[in-house]
Amino acid sequence: MNKPTYATDLQTIREAYLRIQGVVHRTPVQTCSQLSRHAQAEIFFKCENLQKVGAFKYRGASNVVLSLTEEEAAAGVVTHSSGNHAQALALAAQQRGIPAHIVMPSNAPRVKQDAVAGYGAQVILCEPTLQAREITAAEVVAETGAAFIHPYNHAGIITGQATVALELFEQVSDLDVIIAPIGGGGLLSGIAIAAKAINPAIRIVGAEPAGADDAFQSKRAGELIPQTSPNTIADGLLTSLGDLTWPVVRDLVDEIVVVDDWQIANAMKLMMERAKLLIEPSGATSYAAAVKMDFDAEETRVACVISGGNVNLSRISDLMTSG
Ligand SMILES: Cc1ncc(COP(=O)(O)O)c(C=O)c1O
Repeated sequence: MNKPTYATDLQTIREAYLRIQGVVHRTPVQTCSQLSRHAQAEIFFKCENLQKVGAFKYRGASNVVLSLTEEEAAAGVVTHSSGNHAQALALAAQQRGIPAHIVMPSNAPRVKQDAVAGYGAQVILCEPTLQAREITAAEVVAETGAAFIHPYNHAGIITGQATVALELFEQVSDLDVIIAPIGGGGLLSGIAIAAKAINPAIRIVGAEPAGADDAFQSKRAGELIPQTSPNTIADGLLTSLGDLTWPVVRDLVDEIVVVDDWQIANAMKLMMERAKLLIEPSGATSYAAAVKMDFDAEETRVACVISGGNVNLSRISDLMTSG
């Protein structure tokens, strides 16, 4: 039987890693003995909260923008997002000197609109529905010929996010488990493809909020179950899996651990207080899952990917008491 093929592979991920080297930050790995004790494993925090634009999203966006031909690049890029992907794509486009059109819902916070505009992108506001976003983005594509860059269901994005795993392997030896947050699955599926190709014995775990647990439900049912009415403080994890990420989550991800908002808030608080890490709720889910999990006796070295640090400081105390 032929091996299944996924959106990307180790060779393509290695090429992307070289492509984005020097463009993205090589983010540090931090440890904290108290937090390790609390999770009953040796925890290695991969600090993508310290990535450019404050999230791993800059890896995928840079990989895609740098992979465009001159002709494609001249027409620019377009996406619909109010989150970290919007800023990441805007900055990657600015770095290459090409146009970026970012479709955002009209209710997106002003600070987010300003941040995207601050990277030189054109912000296009639309009604706050997924349908309106998709229609508006399609109109921009038709008008400008810009390339549509989906936030996670895109081979080049998954490939770029996967470079987190290659970097981790260079920084930490003998990892037994990698835990990463899952929203649409770009980050986790990239990590799973890279890590399992290098070490098939490694355990790959997705951390998912209870209020948006489509990956957990899909894995249990054995088929893609889209997310409806998500509700969680982890605002980067509201999205549904896509047709490129689901097969990887189905086949290569060992487990999805569901954490509730209280567990996420508690993890965030511990990480800030003890490890001095400024993280957003989505980024705290991986450590929340580590605390919840019972590791096998031989699973001693566990990486938690802190996917982002973009949190509104004035909202932190509200977040800490949620759940
Ligand atoms: C901080 C943060 N973590 C995790 C995710 C989820 O990433 P993915 O959609 O690739 O699963 C996002 C997506 O916006 C994010 O911004």
